[in-house]
Amino acid sequence: MSYNIAIDGPAGAGKSTIAKALAKRLNLIYVDTGAMYRAMALYLLRERINPDDAQAVSENCEEADITIRYEDGVQVVYLNGENVNAFLRTEEVGNMASKTSPQPAIRKKLVELQQKLAANSDCVMDGRDIGTCVLPNADVKIYMTASSYVRAKRRFDELTAKGESCDLEKIKADIEERDYRDMHRETSPLKQAEDALLLDTSDMTIEEVVSAMISICEEKNAARNQKGAEKSKEDI
Ligand code: DC
Repeated sequence: MSYNIAIDGPAGAGKSTIAKALAKRLNLIYVDTGAMYRAMALYLLRERINPDDAQAVSENCEEADITIRYEDGVQVVYLNGENVNAFLRTEEVGNMASKTSPQPAIRKKLVELQQKLAANSDCVMDGRDIGTCVLPNADVKIYMTASSYVRAKRRFDELTAKGESCDLEKIKADIEERDYRDMHRETSPLKQAEDALLLDTSDMTIEEVVSAMISICEEKNAARNQKGAEKSKEDI
């Protein structure tokens, strides 16, 4: 059986940075499920589908073949055979993904792909519904968050470093709007799984978060090994 770590949390909490670092330290594959919803959103944007037209979204998503490959340890998303990694991280695609990802037809298709990946490989998977829906039996579940101001400031710093001009208040408002949509949608809303550990990273550095996560994994593994040892004793 494969070993799976599930990380959920709102946009901009730093999930992907942390999950990538954790995967590298623990020698696991990193599965970015947001990138899959973004690839689907890119397809629908290119096809000029209205995100509010549920029937059009549902019909058109069948035409999008999304596959994942790992090239030099990096997740590459293919949309109908095209490597679309370079197009996924724009605000336009992110907003479209937030509007279209609640559609059941999209979720069904992508959750199946995610479950297959997790069944076949030891991985760290991040998203919104990994601990609650995609991998309810994950070995470790973490719900990672940070205040909306901190998340907006991180995004602002990232864009400014790239030379893009942006407005902190506007980014914060967008993040709060996206949180609301992700948390209040009918299908698989973003929420902390009952057995997930809450990690608020507002005042933590990346290294502190990664170390905290490694400690959580080690504690869980030790508890599991002890349980296993006790069970073997009982069986003797
Ligand atoms: O994590 P991200 O910003 O790349 O995700 C893009 C959108 O995809 C986000 O608004 C919510 C959605 N998403 C989802 O519904 N379920 C997931 N497991 C991952 C992302």
